Amino acid sequence: MIKEIAEHRSHRKFRPEAIPAEIMRRILEAAVRASNTGNMQVYSIIVTTDEGLLARLAPCHFNQPAAAAPALVTFCADVRRFSRWCELRGAVPEYDNFVWFMNAAADALLASENFALEAEAHGLGICYLGTTFYNAGEISEILRLPQGVIPVMTVSVGYPASNDVPLTDRLPLEAVVHEDVYRDPTDEEILGFWADREASDETAALLEANDLPSLARIFTERRYTGGANRAFSKKYFDEIVKRGFFNN
Ligand SMILES: Cc1cc2nc3c(=O)[nH]c(=O)nc-3n(C[C@H](O)[C@H](O)[C@H](O)COP(=O)(O)O)c2cc1C
Repeated sequence: MIKEIAEHRSHRKFRPEAIPAEIMRRILEAAVRASNTGNMQVYSIIVTTDEGLLARLAPCHFNQPAAAAPALVTFCADVRRFSRWCELRGAVPEYDNFVWFMNAAADALLASENFALEAEAHGLGICYLGTTFYNAGEISEILRLPQGVIPVMTVSVGYPASNDVPLTDRLPLEAVVHEDVYRDPTDEEILGFWADREASDETAALLEANDLPSLARIFTERRYTGGANRAFSKKYFDEIVKRGFFNN
């Protein structure tokens, strides 16, 4: 398992063949073994393999190559099932508030990572699709999500088209781990954390292709721009409210 974690890489091109039902079941069984809030499992997992639905979901993920997979698995925060059980048993559920959105989102995300690791252990490739936040309303309509349920993450999954996808680097451990308490790094330390990536051939190619002088500006001016960040923030927040997570 540790070896598989160290070898994780996102796959963005898949072969068309379906994932055998027995394998998908084992992956889903691993997903639901994840830690979850109060063992209430306030999340749902929607496995979409129907071609018509996949074709409708693709634009919600901006038709990115990684979304062209034989299965798109949408992990949803879901306080509905638990709240309905409470009502059926004469208990009064009050899970329609921000902290329960966070609990349910945490449950969904933890299940998604178990799903990803087990899928990789079966020789499948996965890619997280953060576009789920951007178009959660549209995805909710397609997947017929009721009130109290909202998508938080999609994982595309299938047999990888190639096994030659390079391993990506990570910042040094010291950049992300603090001993005992948080210690704000110095400016020099922050620059040091990024030095290897800034000096890489991949970055040089990106700077040339984008005609920009720094990797940081590729993030802020090309990949995740202020205007888009603000617009998608508002859109997702409005959807959370609309789906009834902020009633009290
Ligand atoms: C929250 C989240 C959202 C992501 N969204 C996308 C996405 O929309 N498209 C994509 O191709 N990769 C996406 N990824 C994958 C990351 O780009 C990838 O994990 C990162 O570049 C590190 O590469 P690796 O997974 O190959 O190690 C996402 C990953 C996470 C955790």
